[in-house]
Amino acid sequence: MKVRTVVGLDAGRSAMKVVAYHGSKRFDVIFPTLVVAAVELSDPTTAARAKLETETVDGKAFFTGDTARLQGNLTSSVGLNDNWTDTPEYLALIQSAITRLKHQGVPGLDDALIVIGTPARLFGSRQESLVARTSKALPAGVELKALPQPMGAYCDYILDKSGMPIKEKLMGQGGKLKSYGVIEGGHFSTDFLLMKEGQYIERGADSCSGMSTAAERLRHILAKKEIQASLVECEESFTSKCLYQFGTELNIEEEIGEGQGHVIQEIIAKANSLFADDARSLTGILIAGGSAGAIYNVTSQTWKHSILLPNSRWAVADGFARYALGQLIRASVNANSQAAVNG
Ligand SMILES: Nc1ncnc2c1ncn2[C@@H]1O[C@H](COP(=O)(O)OP(=O)(O)OP(=O)(O)O)[C@@H](O)[C@H]1O
Ligand SMILES: [Mg+2]
Repeated sequence: MKVRTVVGLDAGRSAMKVVAYHGSKRFDVIFPTLVVAAVELSDPTTAARAKLETETVDGKAFFTGDTARLQGNLTSSVGLNDNWTDTPEYLALIQSAITRLKHQGVPGLDDALIVIGTPARLFGSRQESLVARTSKALPAGVELKALPQPMGAYCDYILDKSGMPIKEKLMGQGGKLKSYGVIEGGHFSTDFLLMKEGQYIERGADSCSGMSTAAERLRHILAKKEIQASLVECEESFTSKCLYQFGTELNIEEEIGEGQGHVIQEIIAKANSLFADDARSLTGILIAGGSAGAIYNVTSQTWKHSILLPNSRWAVADGFARYALGQLIRASVNANSQAAVNG
């Protein structure tokens, strides 16, 4: 039987995270969510490298990822609003994700099953238009589905690498399904999800600020101390804890803590209002996304059942791919039982 390729595509506002499975073979791609109009490059080596990261949308060429960062002299990432998926830049990034997977040798992309995400708050209103829009950047034979982003983190936790549910994570006492909350901390938004006994709970789906707000605050705090830094530099300092100023390395840990503190407080307040009544009865609160560590440090003090997902930044893309694998298994089981009925 033909093995169908599945892809989990997490189009984040700081980075595109893509996970593909062909059978049990896993592939992944990550590149910064950066796009600029392409220009002609005179150095042949640079031009050859840039070619791999160049996409054409409606006749217009765009550099994506690192080529966009280096050639475009960008100071912030694209898409810091909810409508960024309506832009040609978004389509260029989606096309680039597929090109990069092909370059890695991923087979079967032309008729793959691909899962993408919407911010939790916009799932109801946006899923259909996002699927229609994203399809424009994908091969015609692709089957595309959309899920709320934090659902990817939930699937990453409860499904194994072949897409099968992990029984002890899913089944509670007396055959009742377990309940989970999810907090998925990203760049532009932090997304929340409530899964009670396997059901998606509408009132638990919402979004609030992500870490880009903390980067803006940090820039402000530094400017008051007459230290200049771009938003990209502020964000990079979240991991490096320092900033380069004319050859000197400044330790800015304290300022980072202050900048992030406000956003973390907003996230905790939102989580409290969404989960408060349910928090006690949940099996766990799953913390995922690039800022998971910072969120977990605070939530774990109040909610002992906070669970920091391993590879938290990849959880959404990986979970989407696992969900897609599960869908293939389900389709094949259904086809077999139909064949048995017919036969
Ligand atoms: N140590 C850290 N503490 C807090 N935040 C961090 C840390 N390291 C990275 N981040 C933040 O995580 C974010 C990137 O996470 P992620 O890749 O999940 O976001 P994204 O998916 O691109 O964004 P979005 O989901 O909002 O579109 C960045 O904003 C970055 O500043
Ligand atoms: Mg994200």
